[in-house]
Amino acid sequence: MANDNAVQQAAEQIARAREDKTLRPSIAGFFDEATNTVSYVVHDPKTNEAAIIDSVLDYEAASGRTSYGSADLIVEYVTSNNLKVSWLIETHAHADHISAAPYLQEKFGGKLAIGREIVRVQEVFGKLFNAGTDFERDGSQFDKLFEDGETFRLGEIEGIALHVPGHTPADMAFIIGDAAFVGDTIFMPDFGTARADFPGGDARQLFRSIRRLLSLPKETRLFLCHDYKAPGRDEYAWETTVRQQREGNVHVKDGVTEDEFVEMRTARDKTLAMPNLIMPSVQVNIRGGRLPAPEDNGVSYIKIPVNAV
Ligand SMILES: [Fe+2]
Repeated sequence: MANDNAVQQAAEQIARAREDKTLRPSIAGFFDEATNTVSYVVHDPKTNEAAIIDSVLDYEAASGRTSYGSADLIVEYVTSNNLKVSWLIETHAHADHISAAPYLQEKFGGKLAIGREIVRVQEVFGKLFNAGTDFERDGSQFDKLFEDGETFRLGEIEGIALHVPGHTPADMAFIIGDAAFVGDTIFMPDFGTARADFPGGDARQLFRSIRRLLSLPKETRLFLCHDYKAPGRDEYAWETTVRQQREGNVHVKDGVTEDEFVEMRTARDKTLAMPNLIMPSVQVNIRGGRLPAPEDNGVSYIKIPVNAV
């Protein structure tokens, strides 16, 4: 991309980290089989400063019960490695799992961050769920709203955020050293890409966002938010590179045009059912992972809009 300053800046950061090992973060992935989500703990080995990306709160839809099995694996890892959590990052408002960020923030501190465009997602879903005026649609449930190209630090390691809309209007990729956490944009090369049919989603925008990510240096490490295996593959996987995606991604490898992608994505999305947990997830995640305020009996309720989606 010729005039894409943010991507240029990200590419330079990645090149510096490729040259100097001490600018590369340590990364641990935690796979949640119930929702096929990968959460990450990323840290600077020199200072032990850490970011927790896309954590999962376990939720059983039938009983409406939350639990902490997945999040506690992260708690254990952070504690046993003596990490200091400075960021809790959400790549977007997830529609398939509830975030455990408030639970982890209570234990470890750190700033809860998401993309600036979350306000558009709050607007759309605030209306759908008929949330009252007490539900602020200004992103104030988060401590930090990232803009495209905004930089940050994880200890001595550089970070930069890229706005990569399409799956939702607010998706961000977070690049830390030479590692890009790309959220729901691309998946493993043999599986393809994220869906673009949720409210506010856009296949054309998704293609452009993905091509933006794939214009980063070829050796950039990519860490994905989900894996569903793929025909012929028996193991879950969540790490790949720009090179592998450009050579082999079944939806967006080099040579696939925007129109071809949009046609494929649109047709495929028509065949996909809504995720099981979309209603509870979105409702809670637009509130920064906090349950709706309890009613006068002290109980929080999740709403289901009937015949509205
Ligand atoms: Fe998602």
